[in-house]
Amino acid sequence: MLVGKDGMIGKSIQKYFSANNLITFSKEQFNLEKTNISKIIEMHQPQIFINAAAYTNVNLAEKEKKKAKKINADALGIISKKLKKINSLLIHFSTDYVYDGKKKFAYYEDDQTKPLQYYGFSKNLGDKIISQINCKHIILRTSWVYSYFGNNFVNKIIDQKNNTKEIRVLNNEFGTPTSSNFLAKNVNEICKKYINDSLGSNFSGVYNLSPKGITSRFKFAKFIFDYYNIDRKIIPINSKFPTNDLIVERPRKVYLSKKKIIKSFNLKLINWKSDFIMNMKKN
Ligand SMILES: NC(=O)c1ccc[n+]([C@@H]2O[C@H](COP(=O)([O-])OP(=O)(O)OC[C@H]3O[C@@H](n4cnc5c(N)ncnc54)[C@H](OP(=O)(O)O)[C@@H]3O)[C@@H](O)[C@H]2O)c1
Repeated sequence: MLVGKDGMIGKSIQKYFSANNLITFSKEQFNLEKTNISKIIEMHQPQIFINAAAYTNVNLAEKEKKKAKKINADALGIISKKLKKINSLLIHFSTDYVYDGKKKFAYYEDDQTKPLQYYGFSKNLGDKIISQINCKHIILRTSWVYSYFGNNFVNKIIDQKNNTKEIRVLNNEFGTPTSSNFLAKNVNEICKKYINDSLGSNFSGVYNLSPKGITSRFKFAKFIFDYYNIDRKIIPINSKFPTNDLIVERPRKVYLSKKKIIKSFNLKLINWKSDFIMNMKKN
């Protein structure tokens, strides 16, 4: 059972799973703000429940705190309780925004979380609620997700190609770009192992998942322009957040250690550049 089918990750999941094995739900069909979600799960009795839905507008979350909390945290309480009752697995996505980005080295799954903005706070609360209820769960903590469609950094940069103004991109924000296809492919592998019963019984927990490597927003933007042969100059800037009252603070540098997920699920992870090249077609 997949909810959030129309988001970046939701669409990718549909590409990697056979349609015969997947029941998909749009926001209208399964709305995390509604009280009927427990009944819908009861009706379908999924073996695995993948939650690709979330409140993802980082800036607006500061103004819509109640809504963000309902979708990113409270709903996970309802879902986890129901899944625990029917002994089903929850696969859920978390974010590097649960960290403050002040750690010099890689972040491990049990490092202390300290979100800098409400979006990160609401996601962190969701993770904690799932862990407390403790249905069978795999929380995948990822970063800088993009896809060929949707509101993401890659599309924002590509959209600048005909803009005549200077393009200025932060050179002091670091992270790992992750394609939604990369996540879907690895989720598919994990699900296969779960269904084949090769995960054992102690797998529940948080796992970092992104490609290998780290880059700055500026270098990533340059890489995107080079890849699509877009001949525009990008100016690196080192500015402080927030730049105006709508842009909230983000972690400056998060490198997610992937040791746990590689070892636990025997995954082979590629680096972010290969991931980009494999998943973003040149037009
Ligand atoms: N994007 C990133 O950089 C990033 C980084 C780390 C982790 N994540 C996590 O990855 C997961 C998937 O995000 P994504 O990047 O695929 O985001 P996305 O493209 O924004 O997809 C989220 C989907 O959830 C839907 N949704 C919003 N409110 C809902 C509700 N009340 N009930 C049901 N569906 C609702 C959205 O529909 P509408 O668009 O119609 O509102 C959208 O289709 C989220 O858990 C997110 O926190 C994302």
